[in-house]
Amino acid sequence: MPTAGKTYHVTTFGCQMNEHDSERMKGMLESLGYTEVEERSLADVILFNTCSIRESADNRFIAHLGEAKRLKSEDPTKVVGVGGCWAQSVKEEVFERFPFVDVAFGPGQIPKLAEFLTSDSITAQGFFEFETVSGRLPMKREREFQAWVQISQGCNCVCSYCIVPSTRGREVSRPAAELVAEIERLAADGVKEVTLLGQNVNSYGRDLPKGERTTFSELLALIDAIDGIERIRYTSPHPKDMREDVIRAHAELPSLCEHIHLPLQSGSSRILKAMRRTYNRERYLERVATIRELVPDCALTTDIIVGFPGETEADFEQTLEVVDQVGYDSAFTFIFSPRRGTEAAGLPDQVPHRVKVERMERLVELVQRRAHERSQRFVGRTMEVLVEGPSRTDPSKLRGRIRHNKTVNFDGVAQPGELAQVEIGSATSTTLAGEELLLSRLG
Ligand code: 5AD
Ligand code: SF4
Repeated sequence: MPTAGKTYHVTTFGCQMNEHDSERMKGMLESLGYTEVEERSLADVILFNTCSIRESADNRFIAHLGEAKRLKSEDPTKVVGVGGCWAQSVKEEVFERFPFVDVAFGPGQIPKLAEFLTSDSITAQGFFEFETVSGRLPMKREREFQAWVQISQGCNCVCSYCIVPSTRGREVSRPAAELVAEIERLAADGVKEVTLLGQNVNSYGRDLPKGERTTFSELLALIDAIDGIERIRYTSPHPKDMREDVIRAHAELPSLCEHIHLPLQSGSSRILKAMRRTYNRERYLERVATIRELVPDCALTTDIIVGFPGETEADFEQTLEVVDQVGYDSAFTFIFSPRRGTEAAGLPDQVPHRVKVERMERLVELVQRRAHERSQRFVGRTMEVLVEGPSRTDPSKLRGRIRHNKTVNFDGVAQPGELAQVEIGSATSTTLAGEELLLSRLG
């Protein structure tokens, strides 16, 4: 199929991993000669990158698909594609439920999408099993000074609520030499901040062949040594694999940011066991204590699920206790939703929806209160801010993030991509406000 002058539109649902996959998808489409358009109705290729972690994402997605159906009925030459975890989990059912869909593909099958788009048999519906690591494709970056780099794909854990092991397969790490070469290229292109992505980043490298085996902390040191990379972030580690070498790296490597996202999921050891998280409340709190000891100012964020099957009021209160005790800088909170084919979906004692919602409200209230308190430690300090652009709420101000990953809105003159020194004047649970120190720019 000739692609010159063709256009595409991608809608992304769900997690950061998916946004990253969408960037890969865009890079692939552009290398095939497609250009991105802002509106779905103008696109020759309409793509959806789906997520199945949360039910709400599915529902939103189905509403969007309705529009694609209408566009396709008006112009049958349009191609509608559905990729990502949801497509993977329902497989051929995509075509039964949505006969207007041309192509469905799982996460990591972006090269197959390219094959599909360049083949002549565009009328055939296709679904591709997953086999490739999408990390090797060119990537279109959202901002030229920040990039995501996928270091591994898949997950060897078996968390009973999670669909990832069945949709993304076993963990496959990319060789360190390949990652370093990629990040060197990014740095030469002006990238200052990289976020390393993987389902369980700190088990990175264990699957590599003997001569190439590199641990996650070794990988961090290799990336820290790359000229031009000012900030390294990663997401997500698994608490069971969060070893002291990685924690120490936060204190020792200048570009590794003072922020650790450490998914708790539940504060009750009984529920953690049912979740098959392989750590208990005490082990988790020990990890936190090590972080606080070695990197005292480190920001800690987390993921928490409320209403896991069998969660009692007493279990939930234990989650509240841990949240209170740790004092997270922010937390992603999820209402448990049974995912197709997962162990937890079949467990007895599913928690009634109104109980889940009520617990969620109490949890969010506590998370915000503690985050607000934690935020105050930045007030009066001068923080390094990577400038991202104008503030979303007040375009006369600038917006950026500190190394601890908090957003700052500030008065100043710095350009996007620059590191500014900002004196923090006030703080809420989610954002800081301040003023750029202009004197430091003269020096
Ligand atoms: N229900 C609710 N939350 C879930 N998550 C993963 N699976 C589920 C589920 N079935 C949450 C976990 C994970 C985050 C990315 O999504 O907290 O860390
Ligand atoms: Fe899912 Fe658990 Fe793997 Fe995270 S560690 S991707 S929650 S199975």
